[in-house]
Amino acid sequence: MDERRWSGSGTADAGPSIPPPESFVSRANMREDPREEFDEEWPGCWERAAELLSWETEYDTVLEDDEAPFYRWFDGGKLNAAANCLDRHLEGGAKNRAALRWEGKRGESRTYTYRELAVEVEECAAALSGLGVVEDDVVTLYLPMIPELPVAMLACARIGAPHSVVFAGLSADALSTRIEAANSEYLVTCDGYYRRGDAFNQKGKVDNAVLSVGHDVRATVVVDRLGEDLPHHLGDDQYDYHDLLAAHAGESVEPVARDSRDDLFVMYTSGTTGEPKGVVHATGGYLSYVAWTARAVLDVEPGDTYWCAADIGWITGHSYIVYGPLALGTTTLLYEGTPDYPDRDRLWEIVERNAVDVFYTAPTAVRAFMKWGAEYPESHDLSSLRLLGTVGEPIDPRTWKWYYRHVGGGNCPVVDTWWQTETGGMMLTTLPGVDEMKPGAAGPPLPGIDARVVDPDGEAVDPGEAGSLTIRRPWPGMARTLYGGDDAFVEEYWSRFSDPAAGDWVYDSGDAARVDPDGYVTVLGRTDDVIDVSGRRLSTAELESAIVATEGVAEAAVVAGDGIYAYVSPEQGVDPSRGLPEVIGTNVDDAIGPVARPDRIVFTPDLPKTRSGKIMRRLLGAIARGEDLGDTSALRNPEIVGELRETIGEE
Ligand code: WTA
Repeated sequence: MDERRWSGSGTADAGPSIPPPESFVSRANMREDPREEFDEEWPGCWERAAELLSWETEYDTVLEDDEAPFYRWFDGGKLNAAANCLDRHLEGGAKNRAALRWEGKRGESRTYTYRELAVEVEECAAALSGLGVVEDDVVTLYLPMIPELPVAMLACARIGAPHSVVFAGLSADALSTRIEAANSEYLVTCDGYYRRGDAFNQKGKVDNAVLSVGHDVRATVVVDRLGEDLPHHLGDDQYDYHDLLAAHAGESVEPVARDSRDDLFVMYTSGTTGEPKGVVHATGGYLSYVAWTARAVLDVEPGDTYWCAADIGWITGHSYIVYGPLALGTTTLLYEGTPDYPDRDRLWEIVERNAVDVFYTAPTAVRAFMKWGAEYPESHDLSSLRLLGTVGEPIDPRTWKWYYRHVGGGNCPVVDTWWQTETGGMMLTTLPGVDEMKPGAAGPPLPGIDARVVDPDGEAVDPGEAGSLTIRRPWPGMARTLYGGDDAFVEEYWSRFSDPAAGDWVYDSGDAARVDPDGYVTVLGRTDDVIDVSGRRLSTAELESAIVATEGVAEAAVVAGDGIYAYVSPEQGVDPSRGLPEVIGTNVDDAIGPVARPDRIVFTPDLPKTRSGKIMRRLLGAIARGEDLGDTSALRNPEIVGELRETIGEE
């Protein structure tokens, strides 16, 4: 085996491995490891992903690299993403299978069969065309988790208009920045939505945002989500979604044949630091890759009910609520609410009622479940579950095991999937029917993916050493560019470790990681989440994992202040004053060493998080150092910042 695979047999420091349950393996989509074949055939191996789709025109080549790092996948091919997610399933006899099951915030539910979804998508496509949208116009979608969001995405895809979905919880300012950056003249939004039972006005935010956009927004389509609960007024160039669709009832719209390299969508990344970046994904490579990974890693099959409890406003929702599952013809569940409303068993009630087969969520959610206690999942019959997944952050071993045991009942593999908005789909994780699982480590690179952990000179580091996580060969799901920013794309992702003169392009993920001798990769967080203590570089993720391993601790974030600061959120009902700091200290000593012992432990009921659930360490660092906090608009729970400042000031 090639040395870059970090081959070698498992050693003691590789940690305990858990084999996938036999009941799962015997029926898994992928039962044999294709990694070697993929390496031998690369890039031709990716034909297997393209074969999962229906092409209007066959492609000429799998990969064109003459404009690297602007790679072209399946060049010469033509296809339509909406036709792949809908039309071909109608022909294939699945017209009456559920495509979408929606669970609303007020206990409503709605099911769309593939046929019903296709009809509404065509009406929406006709309506958008009627308003003047033509191929390559960017349409901004500012909608919460209601069926009209995937409908509008697929309607855009059908007419070849890239969508730019803006998370509904972002501010008017954030919306106008994104509309302007994408030069978008069309907007689909709603009157409002419910937040814990209260009607919340979204349209007011939209009107403000549109006013401050530097160019003309030609048309705004408004979905009436709240009815009588929030009457709204439609101004000039504003249209009611349902009226528009009624005017186009029953119309059919031919799917536009898009070049494989044509844009499918723009996605502005949340970014815990800096300006948002408009990541552009091309049609053929992206769709092939999300379909392939959904099949290989999430083990999705057409007969499944699959639930990714993320928001479509982030890449996870694009790839693994909408495009991947629908391309495979499965039933995808769309949940509008929060996990704890009306009660903390809400998700498990939904799993039980819908007999969900596969469940995919973020570690931050699992830590919340753990904090609330095992009685909530245990009060429901979760035996329909076959596979569990996580994405978005490292998952520490204790949380992993809790999820495996209390949600999966010890019968479901857990896939810890590492990837990014820019990678389009999963990159590092175990293949659930093939690989052993190692709690805390995402896993080996997926077939065809050449990931390496390197030092600042780009040389591979020794097993166990921390370094920068890079990707050497292109892959079909990769971003095509940044919107309006080819130079920024090269600068941001391809400048640090590449040698353009030698035609050697290396993708820099910006994450720090470590590889164990068995080839499993542990992702340690962003490279800037590494703290320097007496000349030693410590990974915040590892320190946090050691702290969270303490009984009674639900969540922790570590930053550099005057020494090491640990912000710790205890489990429900735990009184931290009863010896918790001492036990945390001992655990850190044992796991890493006394040099890593936190100098200060601050207990808090919650940690500041972005709207996608990532802990904002930058803010915690500023609080610890008494610095100005800068922009806090990306926060989901801004109130916690003031509380922490007070706590720290008082002590
Ligand atoms: C982090 C989300 C550890 C990482 C799909 C990455 C993870 C960033 C994992 C991308 C994981 C994502 N283990 N860290 N399994 N998955 N990350 O663009 O820092 O919202 O760079 O994409 O999340 O976040 P993004």
